Amino acid sequence: MPVSETKYNAKISAFGKFLPETVYDNAYFEKIVDTNDEWIVSRTGIKERRILENGATSDLGVGAIQDMVKRFNIDLDTIDVMIVATVTPDMLFPATACVIMDKLGMKKTWGYDILAACSSFLFATSQARSFIEAGTYKRVLVIGADKMSSITDYTDRNNCILFGDAGTAILYERTEDKNDGVLDETLYCDGSGGKYLYMLGGGSLNPPTHETVDKKMHYIYQDGKAVFKVAVIGMADVSFEIMKRNNLKPEDVAFLVPHQANLRIIDATRKRMGVDNSKVMINIDKYGNTTAATIPLCLIDYYDMGKLKKGDNLVLSSFGAGYTWGGIYLKWSID
Ligand code: COA
Repeated sequence: MPVSETKYNAKISAFGKFLPETVYDNAYFEKIVDTNDEWIVSRTGIKERRILENGATSDLGVGAIQDMVKRFNIDLDTIDVMIVATVTPDMLFPATACVIMDKLGMKKTWGYDILAACSSFLFATSQARSFIEAGTYKRVLVIGADKMSSITDYTDRNNCILFGDAGTAILYERTEDKNDGVLDETLYCDGSGGKYLYMLGGGSLNPPTHETVDKKMHYIYQDGKAVFKVAVIGMADVSFEIMKRNNLKPEDVAFLVPHQANLRIIDATRKRMGVDNSKVMINIDKYGNTTAATIPLCLIDYYDMGKLKKGDNLVLSSFGAGYTWGGIYLKWSID
């Protein structure tokens, strides 16, 4: 979608995060699969991840919303729409959005789930932006939450070291300042990439049977090498494209906020944009790949460290299963 020409913009007015207490560090994986800390850190940048031992994705979302309420004193009845971005819904249906609303006693909000894998947060942001810019709704809550441990095969060293669990809540709100909040977006899908990153079982194609369980079809499958190659190009190109389209020079960008799948993909994106290391948000070392939660978690962590300031120009970019990828140009709105 091009830069908007409507009366309103969508700005971030509140946020919250939830990180489970249990930590799986690289030493843990050395005990359960044939791997080592040096390999994991040098190939991915990951040192540890959080794991939700009890509960589901809705609990990650509820925890994040409760944190948001505590920080910003938000009345949940003022939220018009809740969009839950996740690949690990509690169940196929009802939507995790409905589960979360029920757990929090929210009766005045409607909502639904959206699945675009690691790009889910950007796709959900686009929808929140559209609702607000069209004037249809004033406050749209995007939950980026994934319990990746629920679909990870902890005997598969290629994948199990990569993922973690986390929940985030980002509240988008109407503003009449056309130079604030979400300023531009560019989003893509290429379904021919589906064969390189998927979970085969559990849907209408392969309903659960003893056989689907025996064949481990309820876990993530990824051809890491194939995905790596296109992810590097996709994320770098889309970030460059959004800079170019908005006449942003490297010095105009306060931070690149990349999806956290692999530190080497992040580094390639940074180089293509021409920004230096100090302008890249990174927390993959602490949480691994938390899918829909990585980008909002970066925003909140950097705010909490006092590094993010009102008016900062941010370039958000992602690449994930689908393939799905995209970039968003966002001006940070909170002091
Ligand atoms: N510990 C030790 N060795 C491992 C390992 C582990 N945890 N996992 C894989 N290896 C081995 C492989 O078996 C392979 O061995 P072989 O050459 O004897 O077959 C070797 O390490 C190299 O594997 P390779 O696939 O070439 O590594 P890589 O440099 O591509 O890194 C990933 C693997 C998964 C980290 C990387 O490909 C990646 O990040 N891919 C993209 C992820 C992504 O962006 N996904 C999209 C969003 S989810």
